[in-house]
Amino acid sequence: MVQAQPNPTLLTGNLKSISPSKSEQIIQFNHPEKYRTSEWYTGHGEIAASGDGRSFAISASYTLEAEVKLVDGVFEPSNPTLAQVYSSRSRCVAIVDQTVNELYGEQLRRYFEHYEIPLELVVCRAWESDKTPDTVHRLLKFLGKDGCDVSRNEPVLVVGGGVLSDVAGLACALHHRRTPYVMVGTTVVAAIDAGPSPRTCTNGSQFKNSLGAYHPPVLTLVDRNFFRTLATGHVRNGMAEIIKMAITDDGELFELLEQYGSQLLETHFATLGGDEKLAKIADEVIYRALYSYMKHEGTNMFETYQDRPHSYGHTWSPRFEPVAKLMHGHAVTIGMAFGATIAVEIGWLKPTERDRIIALCRSLGLSVYHPILEDIDLMIEGQKNMRRKRGDGGLWAALPTGIGSCDYAQEISPELLQASVASHKQVCSSLPDGGKGKEIYLGDLGLE
Ligand SMILES: NC(=O)c1ccc[n+]([C@@H]2O[C@H](COP(=O)([O-])OP(=O)(O)OC[C@H]3O[C@@H](n4cnc5c(N)ncnc54)[C@H](O)[C@@H]3O)[C@@H](O)[C@H]2O)c1
Repeated sequence: MVQAQPNPTLLTGNLKSISPSKSEQIIQFNHPEKYRTSEWYTGHGEIAASGDGRSFAISASYTLEAEVKLVDGVFEPSNPTLAQVYSSRSRCVAIVDQTVNELYGEQLRRYFEHYEIPLELVVCRAWESDKTPDTVHRLLKFLGKDGCDVSRNEPVLVVGGGVLSDVAGLACALHHRRTPYVMVGTTVVAAIDAGPSPRTCTNGSQFKNSLGAYHPPVLTLVDRNFFRTLATGHVRNGMAEIIKMAITDDGELFELLEQYGSQLLETHFATLGGDEKLAKIADEVIYRALYSYMKHEGTNMFETYQDRPHSYGHTWSPRFEPVAKLMHGHAVTIGMAFGATIAVEIGWLKPTERDRIIALCRSLGLSVYHPILEDIDLMIEGQKNMRRKRGDGGLWAALPTGIGSCDYAQEISPELLQASVASHKQVCSSLPDGGKGKEIYLGDLGLE
């Protein structure tokens, strides 16, 4: 006969009142506010003694608060947003992308002078080839004892594109094991995706972005005025990540892109012309993309769950992107268009919906096909890497189930993969240029 076990005693307490327990009990802790390390992070925990005097179990949760804001003229003295973060601190320590420093460094310096906030700034070249552990080490030197000696609750200001947000975010994650940072994304990719993302990283020898830590910025400021000086190829590149959220999560955003995408590209999101209406559309597109992305990514900051629509287009591309030396956005749209063809093959998506996806990418000059897809060994290796990265439970390949929704495929067999490549090649062969986009390689825009 099984005897009912009495429930263990459940207590709440503070650390001082707890002594080692040899009886079965669970104690939950809420640490007093006065001991808090940083204004952005909180946590609580539980310790459960088994009652045998030899073992106990611990569980702890960690909560972080992050905010994302659309702002206008972030370095205009009339905009107090950054000053409000730094004026109560004795300084602002900043990491700034080299090109951004050339274009906006003066304005940034004048901003902090205006508010009489001392600025300690390092300029960092952040090309894709600079996305290395060496760059992270250099930034750590700047943040560390022989540099600015940044404290663990001092928010570092990071200003630049996706490469900088990845490497500088990782340096902040490693410095004191976790130092907050404020992100000002100056490219489309950084504004709506890499900037607020918790996934900080550097490229490793295995595949792109393979070394990293989950460490989102505590505040992300998005100012589309920066897009005025971006090369059009980079604006196009960034729009790939907006299309991704439109396909998997927001059908209305997809329609906005179908209607206004080309104008947004041409005017760099209404910063090089366009009327007031287009400016409003630009803000709406950015807001919707950000909201949709952070709804999924921001509430699942540690990738503890694999229902991640934003991984659409990112299952095979991390393997083939560096090999083909593709711009990230083009690699993603090739991955998305190919994923749409797989979704048709398995009956999740109608061919007309796949064609709409391809048409939208092409209307913006984004690639939908590349011969690298035909390297089946590479594609299978990419799947293998991804399976490990996503936790071995399955492949979790996000694939569309319509315009504005998606699901996750657990298995793509080598046979299905090969058949889908052939079918995708067939679909794209009818396109005038075989599905190739504009300025698709890193070298096209002078970046290696
Ligand atoms: N962590 C994530 O979740 C995530 C998501 C998406 C992409 N990424 C990563 O982001 C990277 C791509 O980012 P990106 O597209 O921003 O490229 P990038 O950071 O290389 O920036 C592109 C170029 O634009 C320059 N630049 C930046 N702002 C400018 C401005 N306002 N005006 C003129 N020039 C400017 C930069 O110096 C650079 O030369 C990839 O490495 C990708 O893996 C990461």
